[in-house]
Amino acid sequence: MPKLNENYQNLKQSYLFSEIAHRVAAYTASHPDKRIIRLGIGDVTLPLTSHAIQGLHAGVDAMAEAATFKGYGPEQGYGFLRDAISAYYANNKVAVDPDDIFISDGAKSDTGNISELFSADNTILIPDPVYPVYVDSNLMSGKKITYLSGNADNQFLPMPDSAVHADIIYLCSPNNPTGSVYSKAQLTEWVRYALENQAVILFDSAYEAFITDPELPRSIYTIEGSKKCAIEFCSLSKTAGFTGTRCGYTVVPKELTFPAFDGREMSLHAMWNRRQSTKFNGTSYIIQKGAQAVFSPEGMAQCQENIRYYQHNARLIADALRKKNIRFFGGIHSPYIWFECPNNMESWEFFDYLLNHAQIVGTPGAGFGENGTRYFRLTAFGTHENTEEAMERFEKLF
Ligand code: MLT
Repeated sequence: MPKLNENYQNLKQSYLFSEIAHRVAAYTASHPDKRIIRLGIGDVTLPLTSHAIQGLHAGVDAMAEAATFKGYGPEQGYGFLRDAISAYYANNKVAVDPDDIFISDGAKSDTGNISELFSADNTILIPDPVYPVYVDSNLMSGKKITYLSGNADNQFLPMPDSAVHADIIYLCSPNNPTGSVYSKAQLTEWVRYALENQAVILFDSAYEAFITDPELPRSIYTIEGSKKCAIEFCSLSKTAGFTGTRCGYTVVPKELTFPAFDGREMSLHAMWNRRQSTKFNGTSYIIQKGAQAVFSPEGMAQCQENIRYYQHNARLIADALRKKNIRFFGGIHSPYIWFECPNNMESWEFFDYLLNHAQIVGTPGAGFGENGTRYFRLTAFGTHENTEEAMERFEKLF
């Protein structure tokens, strides 16, 4: 009889967005006449840009000719894409060595898999509320988590407590789910804390492309000393609409080394490389050609146009919340708007209320942690038409 990984018993029965999909399917089955508007999961609605499509086509064409056909590729990703991403960082005045970049199928997999590099006896700090993958992936391997309170008082941007030691720290900025963004001074404080504690920051920058204020950091590597203490995860899902196409990247600087028990120095870069080359056969060549096109100047300009489209939706949602006098966070440098549930409702109660009374699907804050119990998240990734209609319906409620 196999002995099972009983840590799975410590997880909620289903992943947050699977639970939402399940509830929406049940509602649709019993109300087939109702038109549902989905502003729940952060899934894009605009098609891929023409430049990305050209890149994908070029990839497909290469596969059709013996001279250019590709079989297994490098597990770390093709040099052409790692160079393009390094150049993208350079445009934002950040130096990242292409060799430190690992291409993957998205930040979800990498933020989930990275915990394999760390032993179970670390003190792991995870903000609450938070993207549930960080929590669930640590629970799956039996790791213990110390939560860091994000709340309205700290604008959902918890800061380090010098009295508390940590070994591993998860940060996401612009934040999923709250839309809050750390300033340069705040991230500097986190880096200083990590260096003092010899800790590693796992920094998720999947929403960096939504930042419009040049003073706000789009990468942890804008902070001095961060290459000695931070791994960065990013993705084309939100930047370029690749939620279904799947491509992301993780930067593991070679400077990240820590002594093992026997005193030998271990490199996180070498470990991640070993892990990826053992368990991952690389992102498809065709997808990487599409991603390369995204990082060209024309490709980026097109992505920015799409981002502006979603930012307009965020303003529509923010306006509706202002009209209803509901306090909210985010929605400026982020596609997410995080707000207090009206009438003191709990978030799953408000989820059901919104679904039943306005046929709008959002994401209950409780799915992101205890501090989200009375909060709710809407995404700006819908179409203009649906977002407008949803907000018209919303304004008629309570
Ligand atoms: C979300 O809605 O939180 C995200 O779309 C989930 C993800 O990126 O995996």
